[in-house]
Amino acid sequence: MARVITYGTFDLFHEGHYRLLQRAKALGNYLIVGVTTEAYDKARGKLNVVDSLVTRIENIKKTGFADEIIIEETQGQKVNDIRKFHIDIFAIGSDWTGVFDYLKDYCQVVYLERTKNISSTMLREQNSPIQRIGIIGSGRIAERFIPEAKLVSGVSTQGVYNPHIESAVKFAQKWEINAYEDLEAFYKAVDIVYIASPHETHYAYIQSALEHGRHVLCEKPMLLEKRQAEELFHYAKKKNLILFEGIKTAYCPGFHKLMGIACSGIIGNIRNVEACFTKLEKPDSRELTDTHYGGSFTELGSYVMLPILKIFGKDYTAIQFDTIHNENGLDIFTKVSLKYPAGVATATCGLGVKSEGRLLIAGTKGYIVAEAPWWKTSYFEVHYEDANRIEKYSETFLGDGLRYEISDFLSMINGSNNSEFKLTRGESVVLAGIMEQFLKGEKRNRKCTDKHP
Ligand code: CTP
Repeated sequence: MARVITYGTFDLFHEGHYRLLQRAKALGNYLIVGVTTEAYDKARGKLNVVDSLVTRIENIKKTGFADEIIIEETQGQKVNDIRKFHIDIFAIGSDWTGVFDYLKDYCQVVYLERTKNISSTMLREQNSPIQRIGIIGSGRIAERFIPEAKLVSGVSTQGVYNPHIESAVKFAQKWEINAYEDLEAFYKAVDIVYIASPHETHYAYIQSALEHGRHVLCEKPMLLEKRQAEELFHYAKKKNLILFEGIKTAYCPGFHKLMGIACSGIIGNIRNVEACFTKLEKPDSRELTDTHYGGSFTELGSYVMLPILKIFGKDYTAIQFDTIHNENGLDIFTKVSLKYPAGVATATCGLGVKSEGRLLIAGTKGYIVAEAPWWKTSYFEVHYEDANRIEKYSETFLGDGLRYEISDFLSMINGSNNSEFKLTRGESVVLAGIMEQFLKGEKRNRKCTDKHP
């Protein structure tokens, strides 16, 4: 009575999967199939899985080969499953040859020849053709974007546009993509646009990209005026295009988990949210010298406002900004205090004052705390009145984390997964409105020597 186990994602179930299960079953009398959860796939960098866990399980059931189906949730689970289920044979496709030899200490390991010319990746690409990305802007954030985009299947970076062509050419050579000086030629060559240019140029670029029928992923802060955000979301909707604000925290699995737990009621009714993010910048950096749009709040405000809007919503009853300025009149430290019918919140950020980066969510039964870098959420704790009772949660955060927002953006374009709830259009509009109000109040402090662009 040989007991066999195999594992996989089994997305867009295909002939390769069927043949693998058929042969795995034939190795023994009882076959257990482990199916990966969405969270585990995300954690191991497998983004863009199309079918839900339920659909993938249903498809395996339909083959009639599986005697039992289990869920694979974590790395390192296989050894425990093999012991727990008294497994004699571990079987997997030949694309994994050698990888699972360590299991030979526990059972027999068999690599079954992989069926040629078929894979979930191939099917995903056939169903949704590769989207060619064009980047507007060639600064630091664009540099981080390209290696992250490489890890998301279904997209390829095609080119970069920068009105300063020398900068575009240098960037394009480094990343082996095309450089464009002409915006029309750029739009013709791409399907989707990632905007990573200075904040104040976002509005015009989003508008022209949408006009050219291109979906847009725009860096935060996407817009600095509420009216502009409303207008462009409306325009995108009318043209049936996706306009998506790239605040990476909103899309990373750990933050998503934290929000789910905060809203689950385990810490009771939430009454206070405090979010702080500081990053010391050189005094001659763009962030601390651009007297129109520099400063701490335009740079980091989107991160610290995000958990507050997610938890308390958009309808605050009062907002107050307290700032400390440098000699240019730019805010080197900003504290935003908000009042809501249900509670209070503070968002603190600084480029010239260092503080403890922390996200704290306090409720009537306990609190959640995530230490810096909480904006790349990988760990948080839930505490209660009883100081000995601490629940610890961790989640993988891979690389620079832009892969998560790129993957969600792509899923929305392909219609396979609606991630809009992770950062709603309404929340982006409120963020733009808060930026607008802040900049209006700050204007008189800022020593703008040149004309307003
Ligand atoms: N498999 C196979 N032949 C194929 C594709 C997959 O034998 N043509 C096997 C894999 O080796 C694995 C199991 O099916 O043992 C589940 O693989 P999974 O990763 O879910 O399928 P892929 O099609 O390889 O998925 P992807 O393209 O997303 O990597």
